[in-house]
Amino acid sequence: MICLGIESTAHTLGIGIVDSKGTVLANAKKSFFPDEGIHPREAAVHHTKHAMELVSLALASAKIDAVDIDLISFSQGPGLSPSLKVGAVVARTLALELKKPILGVNHCVSHIEIGKLKTGVKDPIIVYASGGNTQIIGLSGEKYRVFGETLDIGIGNMIDKFARKVRLGNPGGPIIEKIAKKGKYIDMPYSIKGMDMSFSGLLTFAVNAFILKKEKIEDVCYSLQHNAYSMVVEVTERALSHTGKSEVLLTGGVAASKMLQGMLEVMCTERGAKFNVVPVDVAGDNGAMIAWQGLIEYEGGRRQKMTDTEPNPKWRTDEVEVGY
Ligand code: ATP
Ligand code: FE2
Repeated sequence: MICLGIESTAHTLGIGIVDSKGTVLANAKKSFFPDEGIHPREAAVHHTKHAMELVSLALASAKIDAVDIDLISFSQGPGLSPSLKVGAVVARTLALELKKPILGVNHCVSHIEIGKLKTGVKDPIIVYASGGNTQIIGLSGEKYRVFGETLDIGIGNMIDKFARKVRLGNPGGPIIEKIAKKGKYIDMPYSIKGMDMSFSGLLTFAVNAFILKKEKIEDVCYSLQHNAYSMVVEVTERALSHTGKSEVLLTGGVAASKMLQGMLEVMCTERGAKFNVVPVDVAGDNGAMIAWQGLIEYEGGRRQKMTDTEPNPKWRTDEVEVGY
């Protein structure tokens, strides 16, 4: 089977084409990163504008025709409502036009399954670190259980907000990581409550450290990353210990961070656990992960009526049945 997957939860519109073996035939994307942060309606306008051009691009790079597609999948949630609606409309249009089945999938679970496909890991503790989400997850029965998560903003959004407030550009993740390489540690808030994390106090402290206390930007960037990533590593280590699992999978857009990868790797090595990270080309939001999720669910027997394709902006990771 060949599936065309549509990603449109936030900044990125992605069209991916994947076959049943997990070969990524195409992974076209276009992102919208305004200087002042995302406005949901503007993102939807961006996605609407580029949808058909990206579909054509993906088909051309996969070297197939639209009629060769067997299934259409799309991100049904969670995400920004106006952006999600664009993806759903494009998916319905293609499914009706091509007379193919449609399947709305969960964006967060797709980040996990593409990581499993690409690394071959079987039953890991998953560190899902992206713009909007920060969750430490493990499979139990037929659901991914969230052992710990952010109580306020996602780790990537926190870093991006910091970068925007101190005028370093958007998205901030890669920019901050580069600057932080020359930095040294200065004391900053570290906030774990049970197994949950909180990042907004760290954000405010870091902005003030730079703007009011005139600390060096490289030291602020380093310390902000250091504490945010240390919180993630601590919760991950406890999840490994509680569950007895022996593998870790890092996935989501922030998985591109070399510092986070390095810190998790050290913790895993010390515990005798195996560390895996999703390849960078499928770490951030992309259509291929949505196509792959569509395929495994469809081949596992799941079907969806057109009337059930309304987006679900608050669809949580732990609500999805994954008994495929
Ligand atoms: P989700 O809906 O899953 O929360 P998202 O819409 O935020 O996802 P992703 O593409 O999964 O999108 O993640 C984007 C985030 O990844 C941004 O916050 C960006 O700054 C961050 N990021 C990208 N590269 C790096 C890096 N090298 N270091 C740290 N963060 C990074
Ligand atoms: Fe994402």
